[in-house]
Amino acid sequence: MSPRKVPESIKKRLKKHHQEHLLTFWEQLGPDQQQDLLRQIEDLDFLKTDACVEDFIKKAASASIPADFTAAPFYSNSPCGAEQQQKYAEAIKLGKQLISSGKVAAFVVAGGQGTRLGLDGPKGNFPISPVKNKTLFQIFAETILAVSKKYNAVCPWYIMTSPLNHSETVEIFKKNNYYGLNPDDIFIFQQGTFANFSFDGKILLADKDKISVSPDGHGGSLKALHRSGALKDMKKRGVEFVSYFQIDNPLITIFDPLFIGLHALDNSQISSRAVIKAGPEEKVGSFCIADGKIMVIEYSDLPTKLACRRNPDNSLVFGLASIAIHIINLDFIEQLNAKGLSELKASMFSKRHREPSHPASVSLPLHKAVKKIPHLDCHDNFIVPTEPNGIKLESFIFDALPLASRSIILQTLRGEEFGPVKNASGFDSAQTAKEMMICRAASWLESARVSIPRKPDGSIDCVIEIAPGFALDRDDVKAKQNQICKIAAGDKVYLS
Ligand code: UTP
Repeated sequence: MSPRKVPESIKKRLKKHHQEHLLTFWEQLGPDQQQDLLRQIEDLDFLKTDACVEDFIKKAASASIPADFTAAPFYSNSPCGAEQQQKYAEAIKLGKQLISSGKVAAFVVAGGQGTRLGLDGPKGNFPISPVKNKTLFQIFAETILAVSKKYNAVCPWYIMTSPLNHSETVEIFKKNNYYGLNPDDIFIFQQGTFANFSFDGKILLADKDKISVSPDGHGGSLKALHRSGALKDMKKRGVEFVSYFQIDNPLITIFDPLFIGLHALDNSQISSRAVIKAGPEEKVGSFCIADGKIMVIEYSDLPTKLACRRNPDNSLVFGLASIAIHIINLDFIEQLNAKGLSELKASMFSKRHREPSHPASVSLPLHKAVKKIPHLDCHDNFIVPTEPNGIKLESFIFDALPLASRSIILQTLRGEEFGPVKNASGFDSAQTAKEMMICRAASWLESARVSIPRKPDGSIDCVIEIAPGFALDRDDVKAKQNQICKIAAGDKVYLS
């Protein structure tokens, strides 16, 4: 029977923790809605919520950086010296073997809300390719298909969504016939959520019967892989390495033999790709090492003095930027989950989702983000804020780096592998990403001795798109040199 009255225990609990407003619309709800709201409230762990309000909402976020840290060691994008040259060659060979034997899976985190881009719906459905306007999902799907053909291997694809975009994502894949991939090799699963707060520590309502929640951050993927059964599926297939990338980077090389091979040769548990920072102010995390552990310090936490510190050759001391590309061992993710992976101070938000407490449990710290959060206020007004009005909490994947016994970094060139689509315009936007895709295609073609028309100022005077099925990298283009026609100024060229 559906309750018409709020159980006394719930009333008391809400009062004690200053969240009574969650029942503002109780009398207006139907029995099913009441039941649903009660379930959501029962799911909250109030003691922990209080701690969170205290630590993350009422207090200004304080930087937690190690007392002593130095620049992280890394592999350069091209080998230095004969010995390293040999190691890179060995790594490429091993990487290719691992891909061919089906030991590597693609894993994209696509649960974000893409608020800066202002897109309605999953970001993966954003059209981005310069000539054909292919979406991010399509580009990655075609890449995976091309890799499977090149290496004659099954390359499964794991896609993390959130409860806010899951069904739409599934529909998009169905509607597009899985972009030619075998649906059995695509595993779409959801991440968890955290409650959203107002600046005064009240949990926000999304509707009269709904608590406002946000996805729990890309760090939530480590738990979600386990809970969803994705890890089990990988194990069944013999996957050992997970190639982690973000949905908004169309330049990613998902299956990079060198990166995979170095990771495996060095017995790394989680490895990262990095680019050299554009300058001390670039808003990207910096790799460093503290107590023998590789970690990322967020730009907002790195003191300006350190961010600006330079080496004798004028390069930045902390100039190695994290670009959210990782190879992660399946074993490592399993180990973390077996230990009881929980977000520090935030396992709190949902009893149901909380791991059993375990003395050796592993935690990822929480990060606070001040955001525009649409919500229903207590006077039944639906607020669509134009300015940030609330707080979301999330965990980040790079906080798993110091939990690893071994972790390596491989530098890459920004123009080769990192063109994120974050903003509607300006830097890191669709326009910059498209330009980078054209530039990379031009550079690959030029290294295959194909002449690219350029304006007097050196900028490219044509639009080029290389389909993943035509070439996955520079060497593939060189091998197809003879199939490429002359390109004239103003041409729109699609190589497929
Ligand atoms: P961003 O930090 O860019 O966040 O995510 P976002 O939600 O996409 O965009 P904004 O900040 O609202 O504008 C980086 C990557 O992590 C994924 C995103 O989908 C993107 O691939 N992500 C982020 C998740 O999968 N889950 C999350 O909870 C957050």
